[in-house]
Amino acid sequence: MTYSETLEEEILKKISQAEDQDSLEEIRIAELGKKGKISLLMKDLSKLSPEDRKEQGSKLNILKKNISNAISSKKNELTNIELEKRLLEEKIDITLPVQVNQSKHGKIHPVSQVLDEISEIFGSLGYKISEGPDIETEHYNFNALNIPEYHPARQMHDTFYLNNDNTEEKHVLRTHTSPVQVRTMEKDKPPFKFISPGRTYRCDSDQTHTPMFHQIEGLVVDEETHLGHLKWTLETFFKSFFELDNIEIQLRPSYFPFTEPSLEVDVLCDRSGSVLKIGEGSDWLEVAGAGMVHPEVLKSSNIDPNKYQGFAFGLGVDRLAQLKYGIPDLRTFFNGDIRWLNHYGFSFLDIPTLSRGLKK
Ligand code: DAH
Repeated sequence: MTYSETLEEEILKKISQAEDQDSLEEIRIAELGKKGKISLLMKDLSKLSPEDRKEQGSKLNILKKNISNAISSKKNELTNIELEKRLLEEKIDITLPVQVNQSKHGKIHPVSQVLDEISEIFGSLGYKISEGPDIETEHYNFNALNIPEYHPARQMHDTFYLNNDNTEEKHVLRTHTSPVQVRTMEKDKPPFKFISPGRTYRCDSDQTHTPMFHQIEGLVVDEETHLGHLKWTLETFFKSFFELDNIEIQLRPSYFPFTEPSLEVDVLCDRSGSVLKIGEGSDWLEVAGAGMVHPEVLKSSNIDPNKYQGFAFGLGVDRLAQLKYGIPDLRTFFNGDIRWLNHYGFSFLDIPTLSRGLKK
């Protein structure tokens, strides 16, 4: 056996015995590092005769290559072993009971909860979710929805206009989620069936209004959807949302520029006692705006109104949360009071599913 063969065997043995990355690195420095054994042998080559140098040189190069290959494969091996060990150690025992310490974990805001509930219901009816921006152009917020400039309906919206000095088109904080109708339809081809949840803004504040609030828009457009489908959809939704079979709704003629005909939707309720009861009594409570999509809105979205039709509706999310969970003042929703949230909030485990029930 030549010297370099013995040396190789010796180093390979050390490498194979290395127990972790640190000791492997020590071996690498001791053998291949600047002052390592092999590097010193390389330096000594200069002392040899040209023929010997050539022979020894090529042997040393092979040795060097073999050693560095052995080090890198050992490195891979050690990395895998370390990973395996970590995976075993970090294994979670999913059979352990969950510790629900409410005060530690924070609560889900009723608006988030209700948004999830509504999405779950419409999801089960085959609706997709489509979102739009909070900062909207006048075009999408008004014009494309058949509300041209100087239309009286603009006044009803108490719009927040942004500082529009240097922009060609005026921007607003969207006053409703209806602009998402046009934004979504112009990007795609019918049929459409989606809801659009999100924040909306109006310059208004009292016990039943906050400058920021939440809406969910709904839209179905195809070749044959009609008002009867709208009534069934809303009835089905409210029954599911309030988890009551005796829900009764009433459609009242109304006016929205983006629907024709337009309706307001009321649910039957009882206001005679101290708490408002849904599904009983003889009073009506307004819960949504709706109607058949106006042909002008379809045209704004490049859809042929002679071929396609459908319905739209808008729900006030905060209002629905107030009704369902008995929260009297809308302004308290957005005060950021942790005591309020601890009282009205939901556990993160209360994920709304139709099969398990939507209520707490
Ligand atoms: N965008 C209306 C509002 O904020 C609500 C609404 C009414 C939406 C009728 C609709 C609809 O889609 O069809 O007052």
